[in-house]
Amino acid sequence: MEEKFEPLIQGILDENFGTAAGFFDAELVAGLRKNLLHRHEDGAMHPAGVGKHFTFQKNLKVRGDLISWIDEKNPGPLERQFLDQIDAFVQYLNRTCYTAINGYEFHYAFYETGSFYKRHLDQFHNDRGRKFSVVSYLNDDWQPEDGGELVLYLDGGEKIIQPEGGRVVFFKADEIEHEVKPALRDRLSIAGWLLSL
Ligand code: OGA
Ligand code: MN
Repeated sequence: MEEKFEPLIQGILDENFGTAAGFFDAELVAGLRKNLLHRHEDGAMHPAGVGKHFTFQKNLKVRGDLISWIDEKNPGPLERQFLDQIDAFVQYLNRTCYTAINGYEFHYAFYETGSFYKRHLDQFHNDRGRKFSVVSYLNDDWQPEDGGELVLYLDGGEKIIQPEGGRVVFFKADEIEHEVKPALRDRLSIAGWLLSL
């Protein structure tokens, strides 16, 4: 278990981001993908961040994904498996990096063909408690021509990551600006944040 955490931990220490292919096994990824698609069919996925300070129109110019939160108090069996692995990772992170992560939040995200998320930071206000971003991809057989790349804007230049199923990307929520390029087919993921409250 712990060896698969190492590329994420070492990446954070060296570059403020880490990524690991095959972090989640194919069976779990396929099951979570089905969950997401069911929620989508059920009309349970909604545009994010609408209402408060942004109008729907303004929001759509920035991001086009539909989201649905995972209820950590009442997860489905596969969501439990997902969160168990996150729990193990958080324990390892707190032990090895002296972080004080004591919570998290995760949502499914569905980028319908043509959707994107413009360059942004995940933590705008320090009081929100988001320390690290964790994105897990649920796509089957993603190809470079499918677009939808994650671009991380690092001090040393841009890092481009393909959203292939099972891959996890981990980065500092208040430091790394990033962007999702337009997806040329439906793009599925779980995005989340590790919190220190
Ligand atoms: C986000 C985000 C990146 C991705 O949800 O805030 O930036 O690759 N997601 O899906
Ligand atoms: Mn983001």
